[in-house]
Amino acid sequence: MNTPAYSISASDIAAEWERVGDDTGSFDASRVLKLDRLELQPIGPRDVRMRLLAFSLEHNLDHAVLADTINIAELRGGKIYPGNSAVGEIVEVGSEVTRFQPGDVVLTHCLGEADDYGYPLRIWAYDKADSVGWYSEEAVLGEWQLIPAPLDCGLSLWEIAALPLRAPTAYLLWRRGHDIFRVKVGREKRAQLNVMGFGGGVSELFLMLARHEGHRAFLCSGSPERRAALEKLGIESIDQKEFNRFASPGDVKAFSAEVKKRTDGAGMHVVCDMLRGPVFPAGIAAMARAGVNVSAGWQLAKSVTYDSAAMSVKQLTIDHTHYDTIAGCEACTELYGSVFRPAVHKEVYAFADLPRALREMHENTQTGIPIVRVAEEMPSKVASIL
Ligand SMILES: NC(=O)c1ccc[n+]([C@@H]2O[C@H](COP(=O)([O-])OP(=O)(O)OC[C@H]3O[C@@H](n4cnc5c(N)ncnc54)[C@H](OP(=O)(O)O)[C@@H]3O)[C@@H](O)[C@H]2O)c1
Repeated sequence: MNTPAYSISASDIAAEWERVGDDTGSFDASRVLKLDRLELQPIGPRDVRMRLLAFSLEHNLDHAVLADTINIAELRGGKIYPGNSAVGEIVEVGSEVTRFQPGDVVLTHCLGEADDYGYPLRIWAYDKADSVGWYSEEAVLGEWQLIPAPLDCGLSLWEIAALPLRAPTAYLLWRRGHDIFRVKVGREKRAQLNVMGFGGGVSELFLMLARHEGHRAFLCSGSPERRAALEKLGIESIDQKEFNRFASPGDVKAFSAEVKKRTDGAGMHVVCDMLRGPVFPAGIAAMARAGVNVSAGWQLAKSVTYDSAAMSVKQLTIDHTHYDTIAGCEACTELYGSVFRPAVHKEVYAFADLPRALREMHENTQTGIPIVRVAEEMPSKVASIL
């Protein structure tokens, strides 16, 4: 049995880079991300077959198509089937499946393989060998990869679909950033923290956690729509474009002065930086004494440099995380609707429009997290949240 599914091949990536040469702005993702067909594995005793209802576009798709971090399609043997965030309806279960039955609506997590502590060594549909993703109409996957969808959490189906990958990432970033700061500065010395994130879906969810726990939260983003959506949740905003996206040291200095002014001279106690590149020095300059800079992303650059002496004098910590554990994924699902209220892009894309959605993500013109609707016909249990 096979299903329509998107794939990315290393030969298409090479051909597109050959076509555009140094003109990276002309790179056309739709020449690389192609609607293909995928042969589904037979259902094993602990597997389920699900039909996809909706999924979010994740930034790893952009990295995979451009091969700008690593050439994952080439490393995986020449072709990958991407997609590691999804909402689906189970249509068939293996003989030993106990947690789910046909008709259940579920979320995926993207952990492919874990270390001894439960943290990911490999990510599903990315660097986990032989893993196939869920940007498809149907999928066969293990029961262990699924979490029940909290359909009564108050979010729409599209908002729920925005969360399976970004929310666990934000949940771990927040726990680590907050708890590391608390190792250094106890609650009796400072109750309310200043917390900042730079634009992007993960950072926005990170700030919702901070705000929910009573801290001052600041989104520094270039998108007026995304800033406005977060302001409604009590998250203050800083327009990144007022500081020219930190193009020069003078912009960083002006940004740091603005942060100090808005935080009564203290600066930011916890900063989430998923972008790196020019954002990194701005995040460091804006930090309070004993501050913590957390990251699980490298959208603009993979490497950073910093002044170790200055970091010591200020007692700053840089912490690196990745996707959460399966337990963390399950726990953070409890916060859908009450804490996590994601801003989704104004257009819900059709399945056939995934390449256009990816181009628009790359061009950074979306007003929130981009969502694709896969199923034309939705199950009756999601009718009220469409
Ligand atoms: N390790 C993990 O488990 C994990 C999980 C999720 C994501 N990630 C990685 O983290 C990064 C961010 O992911 P995300 O899901 O938060 O991204 P996202 O929702 O797609 O948002 C990306 C944001 O980047 C900002 N941006 C885009 N181009 C920019 C530029 N040239 N200069 C400055 N800002 C720019 C935009 O913010 P504004 O225009 O609003 O400023 C945009 O909203 C990606 O690299 C992704 O692969 C890692």
